[in-house]
Amino acid sequence: MSKLKSKTVYLCSACGNDHPKWHGQCPSCNEWGTLSEFKVSPKRTKSGNGQIRDSRKLEDVLRGEEVQRIPTGISEMDRVLGGGLLPGSVILLGGNPGIGKSTLALQILPAFQKPVLYVSAEESEDQVGIRARRLGVKSESLHLSSENRIEGILDQVSLVQSELVVVDSIQTVFSDELDSLPGSVSQIRECGQQLLQLAKQRNVAVIIIGHVTKEGVIAGPKMLEHMVDTVLYIEGDDRYDHRILRSVKNRFGTTNEVGIFQMESNGLVEVDNPSELFLAERRDDITGSAIFPSLEGSRPILVEVQALVSNANFGTPQRNVNGFDFKRLAMLLAVLEKRIGTHMGTKDVFVNLVGGLKVDDPAADLAVITAVASSARDKLLPKSVVLIGEVGLGGEVRSVNRLEARINEAKSLGFKTVIAPAANVKRMKEQPKGIKITGVSNVPEAFHHLF
Ligand code: TYD
Ligand code: MG
Repeated sequence: MSKLKSKTVYLCSACGNDHPKWHGQCPSCNEWGTLSEFKVSPKRTKSGNGQIRDSRKLEDVLRGEEVQRIPTGISEMDRVLGGGLLPGSVILLGGNPGIGKSTLALQILPAFQKPVLYVSAEESEDQVGIRARRLGVKSESLHLSSENRIEGILDQVSLVQSELVVVDSIQTVFSDELDSLPGSVSQIRECGQQLLQLAKQRNVAVIIIGHVTKEGVIAGPKMLEHMVDTVLYIEGDDRYDHRILRSVKNRFGTTNEVGIFQMESNGLVEVDNPSELFLAERRDDITGSAIFPSLEGSRPILVEVQALVSNANFGTPQRNVNGFDFKRLAMLLAVLEKRIGTHMGTKDVFVNLVGGLKVDDPAADLAVITAVASSARDKLLPKSVVLIGEVGLGGEVRSVNRLEARINEAKSLGFKTVIAPAANVKRMKEQPKGIKITGVSNVPEAFHHLF
């Protein structure tokens, strides 16, 4: 057998693709300055050895046993996962340092009856133990390890016969085979690959924890996203105690599903009614406040949109927005100026979605434009109204998805009136009882009802 020489490739830290030559700009994702040298030892492929993996007929696969999901015992987590952990799947749990990734990972482990391995290369076994005591985590089948070599981790998995492995965090583990430092792109890719193989070959569920840097450059985890089955991110803000667990990719469930938690002294506690949480400190006696039933995955959550419009003191008026798309706000301000005749050119405009929630749903347009108009006119909105609708360039109010679910959430929190797209309302089979629904086809019509 001829000896194969190791090969040099250039790996992109943004997209994870490799290229035979160095480029200033990655040919795959067009990012600049992201390629770095990486040595790979060539492995013979199975087919090269004359072994071919058998294919299977779909019918046989379907006839096979349905895989059982393992509930984590935390319903918010199960909802985001799509009903529990699947054996043999790999989950990436990402988030800023200190957001609560280790806490959440540790909290879900006691639900497993089978052996679990928690590899914490960041903290010693004792430190994890102290945290477990604080969280009230008790488990007979939980093994702790502070191993940071991926080869050692795989040995440990065999040793304890674990069916679930948590690697906290991917940035601290490394492979002996590579020269590069832990946390480098090549190490993350290699260790990620090995964990992926472990999951697929031995049907072990793997949770990989990955830190996201403050600058939003998520070299490691971003690249891992392509490799794993499910990507969960914990979002939150230093200013608030609540944490949002969001699935941004899920091969075995719906994406954009969210779970809401509150960080307390005994760990992350599930929030049963997020709308109540987000509206808790709302005052309905100030102008510029509108309520919008947002859809986060399959779940409606009521959020308060606040706007403040004031005279600009300097030449260029300021536009500042939190939790909503900046360009979309600019478009809505143009609609307000052109179609409604509200002069915005010399005004500072601030828009904030209360509670740190980020909404990427055009159905929020009507609430945002109304909140801005309410502040600009200094007029209060009627109490207990929610607003739903996408706003077009002509000032028309367009249909949104899943209107009924949004209305039901508003109704369950005691709201009495819904302003919704007329086209949507016409299509509704049944008018819900106990809440008044007003269909509008453009923004002036909505304002006519409100101001
Ligand atoms: P941690 O899970 O260590 O974050 P990560 O693994 O994402 O870096 O959480 C750290 C923060 O959470 C820390 O600031 C302390 C706080 N915390 C609580 O408020 N309550 C608790 O019960 C625990 C364990 C942590
Ligand atoms: Mg941690």
